[in-house]
Amino acid sequence: MPHILVFDSGIGGTSILSHIQNSLPAANYTYVMDNALLPYGLQSEETIQNRLTRLINKVTAKFFGEVDLIVIACNTASTYALAHIRQFTQIPIVGVVPAIKPAAQMSRSKRIALLATPATSKNKYTQSLVSEFASDCQVYFHHSTELVKLAERKFWLGESVIEQVHQELSVIGVNNLTDVLVLGCTHFPILAEEIASFYGSKLMLIDSGAAIAKRVSFLVSNKIINEESKKPLQFFATAMCDFSKLEVKILEL
Ligand code: DGL
Repeated sequence: MPHILVFDSGIGGTSILSHIQNSLPAANYTYVMDNALLPYGLQSEETIQNRLTRLINKVTAKFFGEVDLIVIACNTASTYALAHIRQFTQIPIVGVVPAIKPAAQMSRSKRIALLATPATSKNKYTQSLVSEFASDCQVYFHHSTELVKLAERKFWLGESVIEQVHQELSVIGVNNLTDVLVLGCTHFPILAEEIASFYGSKLMLIDSGAAIAKRVSFLVSNKIINEESKKPLQFFATAMCDFSKLEVKILEL
């Protein structure tokens, strides 16, 4: 029975988790969010690498032998720290990085835009994705921390955030000829409806959720799926907040 641990700074990773759960409904899941340090998009590379190292140590100590796969469901953490943390564990790690490659393939105008956190939109890993997979495209880089906050608010409080999302997107201003927008932060698919209603049909939105679910399914395909030993989703956070929506335990990092 595969046990998959999904990690993000906040609830953004649930947008990836739901794709994986759809592909592998019988697997067991643990979700860990580092909300004590949210937003990751404003942290330095060194801070993120240290934090993720602590996460790996914690997972190894707390869930030793129980976790089959870790999904870093955070573009910021993956682009900054994936190579770094792989040195510290034997557990396979799947990272989530911006869907630049499929976006470049889908684009007809050869103008694509990335909407990510400030950290992801400017870091070296993202630049290398662009030069490797989108050298035939003009790539526009946009970032927003406000959208991360709005996704958190929508998820936890169930509030309508459409006006604030549209306000933020009108400030961001995507180039008119752009035909594909990469949602390069796992919080943003939570706002997919609000984002799509702002741009209408002239812009295709793409994220990494489906591709990650496919990859995870492949990597755990040798594990026996036994529906009878299915456990409920365990949810951990690194700081208290109003968790009335879900049962959340505290995990100190
Ligand atoms: N969900 C995260 C990402 O994919 C980070 C959001 C944040 O903490 O800034 O980049």
